[in-house]
Amino acid sequence: MNKTKRKAVIAGNWKMNNTPAAAKALIEEMKPLVKDADCEVVLCVPFIDIPAAVEAAKGSNIKIGAENVHFKASGAYTGEISAEMLVAAGVEYVIIGHSERRQYFGETDQTVNLRTLAALNAGLKTIVCVGETLEQRELGYTETLLKYQTKMALTNVTAEQLKNVIIAYEPVWAIGTGVTATDDQADEGNGFVRAAVAEAYGADVAETVTVQYGGSMNAKNAEGLTDKVNVDGGLIGGASLKAADFAVIVKAASR
Ligand code: 13P
Repeated sequence: MNKTKRKAVIAGNWKMNNTPAAAKALIEEMKPLVKDADCEVVLCVPFIDIPAAVEAAKGSNIKIGAENVHFKASGAYTGEISAEMLVAAGVEYVIIGHSERRQYFGETDQTVNLRTLAALNAGLKTIVCVGETLEQRELGYTETLLKYQTKMALTNVTAEQLKNVIIAYEPVWAIGTGVTATDDQADEGNGFVRAAVAEAYGADVAETVTVQYGGSMNAKNAEGLTDKVNVDGGLIGGASLKAADFAVIVKAASR
């Protein structure tokens, strides 16, 4: 982390876990544990949990995010949720382009870009995910791919809008596998992302952008990862479902 230049952000991604009642209970448990955080604390929750989560987080330092957003403002898009609806529900953040959406739900670099623009135009903060598969890494394409995904996601995003963009480097091979990138691999991947932002917006702007690491980040490895200069926090899956573990990660990013 380099807190003199950019904000550290720890965000939970609950994925398809927790009913509204469970969401309320987990947030109530987390609130006292993270209240002194010296980093931004975000929980991205399933759509159906949003009202309960916003209510439970009220008056605390926990911000609520969604896990996806549609790129159209309204219309005949059965099953989708617009950025305006999220804002109206009290949501401040949204994850876009998670590898699970790319892998299982046909998300492409183009739709990631459209969703990013829609979210930013509605005033949401975005957590845009990029990351290589194991095969792409073994073929030596990591840098090329991360730069391409980053630039594609940010097409037509203005420098002003970029202030509301967080990018999460999530190597696909490290997600939910228990295999974490080494501290150096995370730093290198995040560095590639920052370099892509520098190529598009200039080095000074790139230094101000929060780049998270995600992929089996947990209470044990969070300190080592966030010690790295390019790792400005994390996007946490499994460990964000346990209040005590999540609080340890928040503490690591609060140093
Ligand atoms: P895990 O922390 O469970 O590996 O998930 C990471 C992730 O995909 C966060 O978006």
